[in-house]
Amino acid sequence: MSPAPIKHGLYAAGLPRFVDPLPIPEIAKPDRQGVYRVSMREIETQVHRDLKPTRCWSYGTTVPGPTFEVRAGKPISVEWKNQLPEKHFLPIDHTLCGAGKDVPEVRTIVHVHGARVPPESDGYPERWFAPGKSRTVHYPNRQDAATLWYHDHAMGIERLNQYAGLFGAYLLRDDHEDALHLPRAPYEIPLFIFDRIFDQDGQLQYPTSGMPDTPWVSEMYGEAILVNGKLAPDLEVEPRTYRFRVVNSSNARFLYLALSNETAFQQIGSDQGLLPAPVQLRTLTLAPAERADVLVDFSRLAGQSILLKSQSFELMRFRVKSSGAALGWTPPAKLRDVARLSRSAVVKTRTLGLDEYEDPVTHGMLMLLDKKRWHEPVSEKPVLDSTEIWEFVNYTGDTHPIHLHLVRFQVLERQRFDIDGFRYEKKMQLIGQPVLPEPNEMGWKDTVQAHPESITRIIIRFEGHAGRYVWHCHVLEHAANEMMRPFEVLPKRSQ
Ligand code: C2O
Ligand code: CU
Repeated sequence: MSPAPIKHGLYAAGLPRFVDPLPIPEIAKPDRQGVYRVSMREIETQVHRDLKPTRCWSYGTTVPGPTFEVRAGKPISVEWKNQLPEKHFLPIDHTLCGAGKDVPEVRTIVHVHGARVPPESDGYPERWFAPGKSRTVHYPNRQDAATLWYHDHAMGIERLNQYAGLFGAYLLRDDHEDALHLPRAPYEIPLFIFDRIFDQDGQLQYPTSGMPDTPWVSEMYGEAILVNGKLAPDLEVEPRTYRFRVVNSSNARFLYLALSNETAFQQIGSDQGLLPAPVQLRTLTLAPAERADVLVDFSRLAGQSILLKSQSFELMRFRVKSSGAALGWTPPAKLRDVARLSRSAVVKTRTLGLDEYEDPVTHGMLMLLDKKRWHEPVSEKPVLDSTEIWEFVNYTGDTHPIHLHLVRFQVLERQRFDIDGFRYEKKMQLIGQPVLPEPNEMGWKDTVQAHPESITRIIIRFEGHAGRYVWHCHVLEHAANEMMRPFEVLPKRSQ
């Protein structure tokens, strides 16, 4: 589906590239009581030297917001304060679930994506709070080191709140990772990549359907791709190895990351931490919300400029200094043990369809998980500490990045099927053999690309906490229009 055309959109390619240095978000600091207090505010920020300051919403003073640096086993408390205006500056669709005119227009709730936290701190979409209010939550950090990120999750307007700028990094570290001696700051840098549309005044525009009462669009794609909040920034690097924590924080855009001159790089981690072994890559596909922990060795590139690209987009430039000792660094051949979860432990396999439906009343089209809308009774109720297989049967022509809160999982395999046979003869005909995940999908994940006309199988152990969570497509426009469902982890039956 193509988004509605934007009037007066600014064609970002007309601006000079690589004139702004890459910003690096500041580190979040707790107060004297040890509590992090973070205010969401409206700010102005310059995304490009030649553009006027852009109105954004931030968890601080920048987009992305401050980076949390936390340690496994050391819990933290965060007070999230909503100090945003009462009016939204982006087009709300009041016909979407949870965004009716009976609730405050501006609402926020923070979710730490990939964190194993109790349900009351997880950011359930309906537990939003309005401007002037705050919410204190607790994050146990009882899990392995990983590149997590936090973002808004308010029912019905999450896509607008994130588009406005409400997200940031949450880096969880542990002793095992420390022992690998990976590059550290200033040679370790988070890279948030996200696309936007700007008008001639440098202000954010969000596409609409053109229908005033139902402005929802099925995907938002912008032609300006920002890295850490700047359009085509520049980073001067030393001739040595850098570690980049790459987050695709786009609403809908998939990234196909590559370096110029086909420079190879190594992926050492995915959503839920280190891979079993480094994987050498020349292109890396990242769906919305997926993360990659990547090493780039600039030691043999002194004096050169290397571009980071996604298809024809030039996202940023690395300018390698010609002076300084070259300090290439090779990661250990083995990063950590990722024992494969065994099918013999599986107590239940759930078959969950991803499909498109006609919505004659409002938006023309919507996508559902297992044919169910958000408000229907909870149907996925795994038991705490049990292992299940969820198979996503994707009948649509798009890849949907499916994310489950609370858990980490492993990708088992993907199996293609004949969509026409299914549509017209109601027969499920498999094509070929199941395909094993790519080497860079062999670690722990929390978001999986469910490919079109395929069954994607993941294996999950429901560890940590009982209670109500959500699973959804991370194309935010899909999630907003019913491609999100609750699930409930049931406590173990006491003997
Ligand atoms: Cu990244 Cu339900 O979230
Ligand atoms: Cu989707």
